[in-house]
Amino acid sequence: MAVYYSLWVTGQFKKNMIETTLLEIDEVDSRQIQDSDVFIICIYTYDLGSLPYETEKLYNEFDNINLDSKIVGICGSGDLFYKDYFCNAVDLFERKMRNRGAMIGSESLKIHLSPSRKDFEKIAIFTKEIISKF
Ligand SMILES: Cc1cc2nc3c(=O)[nH]c(=O)nc-3n(C[C@H](O)[C@H](O)[C@H](O)COP(=O)(O)O)c2cc1C
Repeated sequence: MAVYYSLWVTGQFKKNMIETTLLEIDEVDSRQIQDSDVFIICIYTYDLGSLPYETEKLYNEFDNINLDSKIVGICGSGDLFYKDYFCNAVDLFERKMRNRGAMIGSESLKIHLSPSRKDFEKIAIFTKEIISKF
């Protein structure tokens, strides 16, 4: 599902004539992040609030890169069944990126399972807010 709404996010950027690159999270390297104006991550949460395995490398790489004033956005899907752990990976990435000096371009977005029509509206607002920051 993360792929589905990341396509929606990049679509919103393209509508605004902003060049975007969509990458699988385990393909991203720190240089690409440093070279970009904006960096948006779309993830899911696994196993009682854990980071998905494929995001761990990037999560750890953030410790070695300077995100000072980099505009970032974080969105993720989860399942409300997991209560306090709902979309915990979103919170983990947000905390890490804040600690590294990043500027959160819009309040992180948490989506329950498949995005509803309302969620797509929220994604549009999320991207609009981020775009307004640069
Ligand atoms: C074993 C397992 C553990 C999960 N743990 C969590 C969790 O702790 N928190 C959460 O919000 N979602 C959790 N989820 C839900 C997934 O994040 C959810 O399936 C996904 O975000 C929705 O995408 P999908 O439609 O591709 O499944 C878990 C799912 C599975 C299968």
